Amino acid sequence: MDKERIITAMTRKEDDDQTLRPSTLDQYVGQNDIKEMLDIYIKAARKREEALDHILLYGPPGLGKTTLAQIAANELGVDIKITSGPAIERSGDLAAILSSLQPGDVLFIDEIHRLPRFVEEVLYAAMEDYVLDIIIGKDHDSRSIRIDLPPFTLIGATTRFGDLSAPLRERFGVVFRLNYYDVDDLEKIVKRTASVYQTDIVPKAIIALAQRSRGTPRIANRLFRRVRDFAEIIGDGIITEKITQHALGKLGIDENGLDDTDYRYLKAIVEKFGGGPVGIESISASISEEMTTVEDVYEPYLLMEGYIKRTARGRVATEKTYTALGIKYYKGFFSDES
Ligand SMILES: Nc1ncnc2c1ncn2[C@@H]1O[C@H](COP(=O)(O)OP(=O)(O)O)[C@@H](O)[C@H]1O
Ligand SMILES: [Mg+2]
Repeated sequence: MDKERIITAMTRKEDDDQTLRPSTLDQYVGQNDIKEMLDIYIKAARKREEALDHILLYGPPGLGKTTLAQIAANELGVDIKITSGPAIERSGDLAAILSSLQPGDVLFIDEIHRLPRFVEEVLYAAMEDYVLDIIIGKDHDSRSIRIDLPPFTLIGATTRFGDLSAPLRERFGVVFRLNYYDVDDLEKIVKRTASVYQTDIVPKAIIALAQRSRGTPRIANRLFRRVRDFAEIIGDGIITEKITQHALGKLGIDENGLDDTDYRYLKAIVEKFGGGPVGIESISASISEEMTTVEDVYEPYLLMEGYIKRTARGRVATEKTYTALGIKYYKGFFSDES
């Protein structure tokens, strides 16, 4: 379902455009606190000629975690090896990657919360002491051997901080939480994208795109590419305000930056569950979506924008949701207390 969605924060095939990824901290828009600290840590590590501390990046998809890991490696002047939690199935897979690292290199593990537990346990000693303890042989013939590793930096990324085990979390010296971008920052990102693609765009179109990108650079860039298609085919290549509005309308994104999927979710709460409180399991089942997708991809933006609230007893629709759905709101009327 989510694959069809133009404003999903999840990666789609068309997003693989490396030319859009900023390669230095200077080019990386927003997240100023993180940038400032990272800059200091990188400079200190370089000065001491040591590996940078292990870093955990967490936050919703599309906010620039992978980009930041690549920038860190670039600014450190080292290589980066990229893998992901689900891709490492055996401890041998991890051993192979770790032993291929040069001193100071960055190992980036995306979706690190999905590492198998026994792989995670091998990682502990690697992170702490730069050693690899592996067991070779079987049963009573098995023995453990220890391999020294070069000092390296692990950068882990996750959308689900809470799913990380405590021992793993504790082994990161630095933890950064990425936040949604404000419209100002998204405008800068859209402008940057326009210049990378050498496309003319009028200021009002920049604002319109920034406002409808749900605080997410990945979505801003994707919308940009779609609108550019419209500008090239029905216009003269310049992204005007009119073409932007037309294209966004065709793509099913309204002035709130919401699309059909959002409305399906919000309507489910209001129409099927009386506005809540309702548990995430029930909502997910009623719209036939995976619970983790609903929680990681659909809800964060709706929560941030105040369409829903999270209570101990479940999700509750707010007045803003009723307004967006064009339904009159009576406080208490829809709740199960009435
Ligand atoms: N701070 C930023 N400044 C400029 N572009 C960004 C920024 N963060 C992300 N992007 C763009 O958004 C895209 C998605 O970022 P990515 O690092 O893949 O997100 P994540 O790994 O958190 O899902 C990147 O390709 C990049 O072009
Ligand atoms: Mg990523």
